[in-house]
Amino acid sequence: SIVYLNGAYMEASEAKISPMDRGFLFGDGIYEVIPTHQGKGVGLGLHLKRMENGLRSIGVEFDAEPLKQVIAELLEKNDGDDLNVYIQVSRGTYEKRFHGFPDKVEPTVFAYTWQIGPAHVADKAQAHTLKVVTADDLRWQRCHIKSTSLLGNVLHFQQSYGEGYDETLLFNGDGNLTEGSSSNAYIVKDGVVYTPPLSDELLPGITRKILLTILAEHSDIKVVERAVSKQEVLDADEIWMTSASKEVGPVIQVDGQKVGSGEIGDVWLKAQTLYSKHCY
Ligand code: PDD
Repeated sequence: SIVYLNGAYMEASEAKISPMDRGFLFGDGIYEVIPTHQGKGVGLGLHLKRMENGLRSIGVEFDAEPLKQVIAELLEKNDGDDLNVYIQVSRGTYEKRFHGFPDKVEPTVFAYTWQIGPAHVADKAQAHTLKVVTADDLRWQRCHIKSTSLLGNVLHFQQSYGEGYDETLLFNGDGNLTEGSSSNAYIVKDGVVYTPPLSDELLPGITRKILLTILAEHSDIKVVERAVSKQEVLDADEIWMTSASKEVGPVIQVDGQKVGSGEIGDVWLKAQTLYSKHCY
């Protein structure tokens, strides 16, 4: 595939980054994953804004607007109607390994694409269901930053993936739900959707933002942003996980027990139907 690195397009095998890059040495960078269908990015502006905010929060001033052109060119140079775009901006390459922010360093900008499935269908028979496990959230206290330092998330994901499951639902020190290792989390009880409010304990997901906006503007489904306890998760009628690639993912099993009836729920069907209608 053709990738983008620091102003140039090239074959992936030609792309070279110094091992002295802070992205490599420290995980000192910010990233985004943006789904595109027929050349259109889902929530493109929101993703680029989050990237700028994340970079500002680590002291890197960066204008993400030109990335729109980079994304358009990458989509043109790579075949496929349905591509994910990964963009990573690290603080840059410096002459030596040193913890402080170097004075003179240019961000390293890398982007590549890969084929994904077509946009999801809001259909219970075709939906990809998820089986999840629960765990204590052992990541850091800046989970709102989409940092490339993902070892905490990687270890949590492996807790489920390594056992043949799909995601790990994480709980903070008070026993309340934060999010998944790579997705946001929701429960449905008696027709009402509950999801943890934004804080430094979870990523402000773009799929979350789009979904909550659509539900508020185009449905009578009530959404409440408040703390959700582990017991409420275990007693939920439905559980969903959202991310750029999962869209609204229906969870049918937690820790080996059925969620609700063990079948995909009706509120999920309404939510994914609206999401599909408004995003493509
Ligand atoms: N993951 N929470 C975490 C910890 C995530 O890593 C992600 C996304 C989300 C959902 O965010 P969004 O709706 O903006 O995709 C929530 C990406 C896709 C990844 O790391 O591959």
